[in-house]
Amino acid sequence: MNPFTRFWNWIKSLPVHIILIGLCIIWLVPSLGLLVTSFRPVQDINETGWWTVFAKPKGFEEFKTYCASCHGEDGTAIATADLTDPDLVQNYRRSFNLLSSLERDIDGQPHMGDISVPDEQTAATIAAYMRRISGIEARPKFTLSNYIDAFVGYRGNKSYQQDCADGTQAVDLHCDVRDLTNPRGMGRAFLNSLFVSIPSTILPILFAAFAAYAFSWMDFKGRQWMFALLVGLQVVPLQMTLIPISRLYAQVGLNGTFLGIWLFHTGFGLPYAIYLMRNFMGSLPREIFESAYLDGASHWTAFYRLAIPLSVPAIASLAIFQFLWIWNDLLVALVFLGGQHPVLTYQIGNMVTSLGSGWHLLTAAAFISMALPMLVFLFLQRYFVRGLLAGSVKG
Ligand code: HEC
Repeated sequence: MNPFTRFWNWIKSLPVHIILIGLCIIWLVPSLGLLVTSFRPVQDINETGWWTVFAKPKGFEEFKTYCASCHGEDGTAIATADLTDPDLVQNYRRSFNLLSSLERDIDGQPHMGDISVPDEQTAATIAAYMRRISGIEARPKFTLSNYIDAFVGYRGNKSYQQDCADGTQAVDLHCDVRDLTNPRGMGRAFLNSLFVSIPSTILPILFAAFAAYAFSWMDFKGRQWMFALLVGLQVVPLQMTLIPISRLYAQVGLNGTFLGIWLFHTGFGLPYAIYLMRNFMGSLPREIFESAYLDGASHWTAFYRLAIPLSVPAIASLAIFQFLWIWNDLLVALVFLGGQHPVLTYQIGNMVTSLGSGWHLLTAAAFISMALPMLVFLFLQRYFVRGLLAGSVKG
């Protein structure tokens, strides 16, 4: 290929690349922001945006304009009045005290020289800044406390670790391993979500594999009709069945149990799972099955020696989609499990109070619930793509 065509091809594919990069950025920037925010201390989250993590702390600008000319940018220039010394700053915790010091004369000269004394608001900001640089109120740039608080379900004004250290633990927390599975925490909700999702993924796929084999390789009356009916069942909206099923569950005592939600997800997963698996198994080469039958293989042998191993790609992509859909499901979990066994989606909603406080916990909670889907996506990417194509290529 000569350089010119190569250059021309590069130019032609440029718009596509730019669009793809743009899409990635649109997706990545907010996720990155959420991730960074989830590791910041509450006070920082409330004061500044996540993109300022590497900027100077709040108050630096004010300090620079008013005080740096004498005290230096780091506050240590005057040896007798080192503003990073906690013992000195201790006396100026309140902006009122600081202001009166700034208005007082030093050796017959105004403290601030030619510079005008800052207003109260600015003085308060500067006082806070001094508390920070002197270490009285030092806080780390990043902290795990949002994650810890969300994980154990801490709802207080300080932090779980702080409260436990002070011995003033919040209600229903014990400050030991028991807290890891506190019913109000994300840790417990994570386990509950796993406990809902795994059987609800395996069961429908297992049954669908049997059904798909029967529909593809066994001859029985009404096969086409039954398959058509199953395909048609896919359009039944889930909401329509909430009332009848929950009444039925109430009669047999399945409301609020894991078994109930497994059965529900299995029922709703089956039509599509059967449809997809049937299309996949039906397109496997007929000859291998026929020669297996000629050699005397039973249907059971053909099923687990031929059909299942050959259908692994379909099973994998189906499993991924079913798992993700159940992991992110709120409606079914809310109706059939509710607060009895809170799952992640349910618990995330509980993190924020109606007054809007506690949303620093939400950032960590969101990441806890995103973690598994992201891992699934990253490690099983090729099945993911195949799953997206499965409907279009076959069928
Ligand atoms: C014109 C120079 C100048 C400016 C501007 C200035 N200071 Fe000072 N500051 C001084 C000097 C000089 C001292 C006295 C050092 C000493 O006592 O020996 C002092 C002392 C202090 C002290 C210690 C007082 C004590 O307890 O002895 C504090 C606190 C202080 N400054 C805070 C500030 C803050 C905050 C700002 C900015 C809003 C500021 N200063 C701006 C020159 C300045």
